[in-house]
Amino acid sequence: MGILSRIIFCSMIILIILFAFAIILILSLAFSKTAFGVLSTNTAPVGNLGEDQLLSCYLPIPTVSQVSVSWEKSGIIGFVYQHTNGAASFKNQNPQFKGRTELFPNDLVTGNASLMLRNVRLSDEGEYYCTISSSQGGGRITISLRTAAYTAPTFTLTNNVLAAEASRWFPEPNVTWFSLEQEVLQGDTTFSQSSFGIYSITSKLQPVNKSGSYMLKIENDLVTSVSTARLTETEISKFSYFAFSVASSLLPSPHLRIMISVLCVFYVT
Ligand SMILES: *[C@@H]1O[C@H](CO)[C@@H](O)[C@H](O)[C@H]1NC(C)=O
Ligand SMILES: *[C@@H]1O[C@H](CO)[C@@H](O)[C@H](O)[C@H]1NC(C)=O
Ligand SMILES: *[C@@H]1O[C@H](CO)[C@@H](O)[C@H](O)[C@H]1NC(C)=O
Repeated sequence: MGILSRIIFCSMIILIILFAFAIILILSLAFSKTAFGVLSTNTAPVGNLGEDQLLSCYLPIPTVSQVSVSWEKSGIIGFVYQHTNGAASFKNQNPQFKGRTELFPNDLVTGNASLMLRNVRLSDEGEYYCTISSSQGGGRITISLRTAAYTAPTFTLTNNVLAAEASRWFPEPNVTWFSLEQEVLQGDTTFSQSSFGIYSITSKLQPVNKSGSYMLKIENDLVTSVSTARLTETEISKFSYFAFSVASSLLPSPHLRIMISVLCVFYVT
């Protein structure tokens, strides 16, 4: 009886704490929307080294006038990109970004200050601050750019050996073959590293069934590539997708969980 009522009491405390957190969350979201009316479709993108990356930043109000934009990066002097008085201003641009950044003029007039960063480098990793001001308000948002190299594999079948090649990966990933039933299959993977440190992967699986389907997972801390190769007598059909890890700063903090369990252990015992 005593234990039971304590457990019920404890559950109620947990509910109260969860409600309190929910209310705080809702209030802070509502507040941040009015005070900093800038949005992004992706605040933690993973840029693919050597390719272009869009850093999304826009005002929720579609039509605005007199838009000023600044893109800055934590830890560097000068701007990544600056647009004031109706024109781009390169006077205080950091040399690291010279000729590699641009806004989209047609989108800018509607309050979309998304930045295209060309030819992503390892050193581009970091926190970017997008600040928009306009006649209808503005604000600032932080985008955490992480960098990696990733390519989907291509498959070839020779006799009963299924070979996969993925030319660009960084940091070094691990490579796992699966049957469609999710059983791990023993493949033979070799890595070679280019002078830039980028890994090229070749992985072979044998013997394979002539009309079987196989899955290949290539995974590092930032990116997971999952490919399915379906073999038929005449061809291999392939389906691939990438999944990106959530930035650690965006993961829910474990403090709440620890706090509740400490509270309950303390109370029930
Ligand atoms: C902002 O502009 C970029 C570049 O044209 C576009 O890809 C993106 O979808 C736009 N975002 C919004 C929310 O309109
Ligand atoms: C290949 O075929 C054999 C016989 O049909 C079967 O036992 C085996 O499980 C198959 N292997 C895979 C990976 O599908
Ligand atoms: C592969 O790498 C990921 C990310 O680094 C890791 O979480 C996972 O446990 C690794 N898997 C294996 C089988 O080593």
